Amino acid sequence: MTKADAFAFRPSAYTALVLRQVLAHGPRIAGGRVLDIGCGSGVLLAAAADMGAGALCGVDIEPAAVQETARLLGALTTAARVEALHGSLYAPVAGRHFDVILANLPHFPMDHAAIDARLSSWSDGGDSGRRLLDPVLAGLGAHLAPGGLAIVAHNAFVGLEATQDIASAQGLTARVIDAMTVPIAPEKLGHMTVEVLDREMGRSLHRHGGHVFAEVLALAIEHAGDGT
Ligand SMILES: C[S@@+](CC[C@H](N)C(=O)[O-])C[C@H]1O[C@@H](n2cnc3c(N)ncnc32)[C@H](O)[C@@H]1O
Repeated sequence: MTKADAFAFRPSAYTALVLRQVLAHGPRIAGGRVLDIGCGSGVLLAAAADMGAGALCGVDIEPAAVQETARLLGALTTAARVEALHGSLYAPVAGRHFDVILANLPHFPMDHAAIDARLSSWSDGGDSGRRLLDPVLAGLGAHLAPGGLAIVAHNAFVGLEATQDIASAQGLTARVIDAMTVPIAPEKLGHMTVEVLDREMGRSLHRHGGHVFAEVLALAIEHAGDGT
């Protein structure tokens, strides 16, 4: 792992949004099996370890992220079982169930581009932003243990309703548990899918003094009835 690799996986504001929910759900994480899909630096798993998770599993498509997560988890003083696995989405954990699933996957509607010393796989959610969001949501029913909880970072401009439909088709509910406003850097904006930009400006995207800000949500997704 070079310094450049570690820099590429540094936490973002989106990481912090999910992290806050990990800390808020300590009692549900304690003793549980936690999966982080698209683990990057592994910091969300470190927070889950702090909440007393019983098993920590990170999956990432980038070998350098897997290496960084393994390094970070290896340095923790935790009794939890730890794994850092290379592969796409649920492929490395086929057939397994988790009490908590974390996902802060790339879900920015954009063309393929590396921005701000990040790899393109950090943000690139395809034209609609849903290229990875849809399959990760579609796999929750098969991978969430009974009573399990998924915490998902979700750009408001990629369509909450579509997410709720995918959840409900599996007997799950998706609800907003947190939200924040983030600036979109001009470099990133320049790669954003124009149709999404035009459709969402004034709705979930806002221009102030020439700068564009976006609404970002944290969702809790769980079996209907579990969270109410
Ligand atoms: C926005 S970053 C989030 C990283 C970390 N979870 C965090 O919150 O800081 C998205 C991560 O998803 C990974 N990723 C992209 N495509 C993936 C895929 N198909 N399967 C698994 N991980 C993927 C990227 O390599 C990157 O580490």
